[in-house]
Amino acid sequence: MRMNSSAVELEEIAPALEPAQVERDAFAEEVRRGLGRARKELPCKFFYDAQGSRLFDRICDLDEYYLTRTETSILLRYSGEMADALGPRCTLIEYGSGSSLKTRILLDRAHDLAAYVPIDISGAHLQTAARQLRLEYPGLAVLPVCADYTRPFDLPGRCAAGRRCVFFPGSTIGNFDPEAAREFLRSIRAHCGSDGALLIGVDLKKDPDLLHAAYNDREGVTAQFNLNLLARINRELDGGFNLSQFAHYAFYHPVRGRIEMHLISLREQDAWAAGGRFHFREGEAIFTESSYKYTPGEFENLAADSGYRVERRWTDPRRWFSLQLLRVI
Ligand code: AVI
Repeated sequence: MRMNSSAVELEEIAPALEPAQVERDAFAEEVRRGLGRARKELPCKFFYDAQGSRLFDRICDLDEYYLTRTETSILLRYSGEMADALGPRCTLIEYGSGSSLKTRILLDRAHDLAAYVPIDISGAHLQTAARQLRLEYPGLAVLPVCADYTRPFDLPGRCAAGRRCVFFPGSTIGNFDPEAAREFLRSIRAHCGSDGALLIGVDLKKDPDLLHAAYNDREGVTAQFNLNLLARINRELDGGFNLSQFAHYAFYHPVRGRIEMHLISLREQDAWAAGGRFHFREGEAIFTESSYKYTPGEFENLAADSGYRVERRWTDPRRWFSLQLLRVI
């Protein structure tokens, strides 16, 4: 298990993971770097401030956004099999646990877990969720850890012994480019341990029209989610972006096998943020997110390159989404 001084194991009080100023400086630096490039880009991790997280929750409820509903239906149908596959006295470690809503489906079936370790970057959110879980599952040891799971961090000492399974639902792995996904999956192996496993949600390739609709919803919630990145820059980095002069643009790239999200400048303009000024040509794009879709075979190869074999794969009847149990090799 790797250690990191910035991970915080929570008991009662949730200290901030990093001082706000450090986070703000890192955000400013990435914005200056990304918008200073010939092909402008902003990292998708910055979508999730309080407003972005609210918008993402709304996306998950949209008719067109099949991912959350479909993954939940797979969990509801197969959580018994999943719990059996985890084996006895397993510690379940969830990356990016939020309110642990999907996890409850698994917890309801996995009766003899040694512990549940929710990991989230938001200390306050995590602490509320942990308190609630302790009330709902009185026999379960809930050991929350406040950490950015994309960086090395420490698991609670109590997890060292025994079998471990990392749970990473939601198809967030799709937001990593393939090389970064391999590196990330390799880094998770340390938390799984040599006899451990990873239960991961993976969105599957499908009719491009369905994919297009999922990222171009009729209500325009995904557009608001994308544009909130510029609104966040305005709020937090003294930015001067005119939101009405940028448009959400998302499409499926069949060769790359990914949804690409961009913000397109509707006219020639200048904008500023974090002490920098940035020029936009009419039609110029800021690349904000990739969301890769995999065939089962493609994901099997990615898993093998990262040191896992696919032990079980559960899908819905339309084969739109999958939950896959990867075993460390
Ligand atoms: C978090 N992640 C899996 C979402 C996705 O589908 O790639 C983020 C998202 N972007 C636009 N809509 C949802």
